[in-house]
Order: sequence, then structure tokens, then C-alpha cells
Amino acid sequence: MNHDPSTAAVTREREPTETNVRALVEAFYRRVDDDPLLGPIFARELTGRWDEHLAKMTTFWSSLVLGSKQYRGNVQEAHRPLEGIEPRHFARWLSLFLNTVEARYEPAAAVQFMEPALRIAQSLQLSKFGWDYRIPAEQEALLAALKRQRTGDEPEPRFPERPAAEPFPAKFVGKPVDER
Ligand code: HEM
Repeated sequence: MNHDPSTAAVTREREPTETNVRALVEAFYRRVDDDPLLGPIFARELTGRWDEHLAKMTTFWSSLVLGSKQYRGNVQEAHRPLEGIEPRHFARWLSLFLNTVEARYEPAAAVQFMEPALRIAQSLQLSKFGWDYRIPAEQEALLAALKRQRTGDEPEPRFPERPAAEPFPAKFVGKPVDER
């Protein structure tokens, strides 16, 4: 992937637009590509296909936050064949995504990305690790806080609180796959 420092962020956006969603997607996958844990997985899967992936992810997020309804795909199916994915990969993915969103959007806009990301991460983890897998408590708590914001139980939109370092425990809290 091309890493262009001139596209570094920026002031926080108040609202998602087609242009800033594209910039978010590019910034997020630059971090993913640079990440020692996630980088090799994406490199393995997407060599020669990064442009296609970035375009697809822009459409995906635009569909969610702008209601553009252009995305045609199956998120579960896309992840099913991926080998070697563990809970710590989801922890890192979420950590990078939430940090990127927080750096680029005001809270009211940021939470529109955060809630679906956590919800989808939850369902991907359950299908990867089995229905008895315990979603890490920090992820559950964050999702609940985001839901409260959406349903208007919080007076002011704000960034949800989360631990400063690696925000979600990387240790495996369900049964190891080979013991099922
Ligand atoms: C461990 C964490 C994750 C890893 C390693 C991962 C990896 C990948 C990879 C390699 C692809 C490309 C598949 C292909 O085209 O061959 C992909 C596609 C995609 N990912 Fe993830 N992903 C993760 C988590 C998530 C989460 C939490 C979301 C929630 C927003 C997400 C949303 C998507 C979407 C929408 C696509 C495109 C699906 C399609 O082809 O229509 N991913 N992911």
C-alpha cells in the first residue's frame, strides 16, 4: 500500500461525508498495514487487491453512516475463510479503528462508526470462536455505552470511556478451539 504522509489528520469532522469516509478508511488501513499483528494478515489476503478493498470499505461505511445503501456483500462470508484469527486480532482491530475514528470525528459523528464496528466485531467473534465464546467485558461495556448515546439516554454525545492502552484483553477467555 502507498503511505502518503501528506494525508495525515487533521481537524475533527462534525459529520461524515463521502470524502471524509474515504479518508477515514485510508487512514485506518494505513495503520492496519503498519501494525505488526494485523499487517501480515492483510498483506497475505490483499496483496494486489488493496485498491479494491479500500473502495469496498468506503462503500460499506458510507452505506452505514450516510445511508447510501450501495454496499452489496456478506461480511460474515468474507471473514469465514480467514485462517489464524484469534481474539487478540479483534482486540487490535477495534483498538486501531476506534483510535482512528476518535482522531478524525467529533463525538456525535464518531459514535455512528463505533457502534456498528463493535456490533459486527461481536458477531464475527461469535462465529469464529463459537457461540459459547465470552465477548470480553470491555467490549460489552463499550457497546452498551454507545447504545445509550444513540437512544438519547446520554445528554451530550461524547467519546465513550475506554482503557488507555490496549483496550480489550488479548487473552483467550473462551475455550481453546482444540478443546471443543
Ligand atoms: C480480526 C479482525 C479482522 C480481520 C483480520 C479482518 C480481515 C479482513 C480481510 C482480510 C478482508 C478482505 C477479505 C477479502 O476480500 O478477501 C476483510 C473484509 C471486510 N471486513 Fe474485515 N477483518 C476484521 C474485522 C472486521 C470488523 C470488526 C469489521 C466490522 C466493520 C470488518 C468489516 C469488513 C468488511 C465490510 C469487509 C468486506 C466484506 C466484503 O467482501 O463484502 N472486518 N476483513
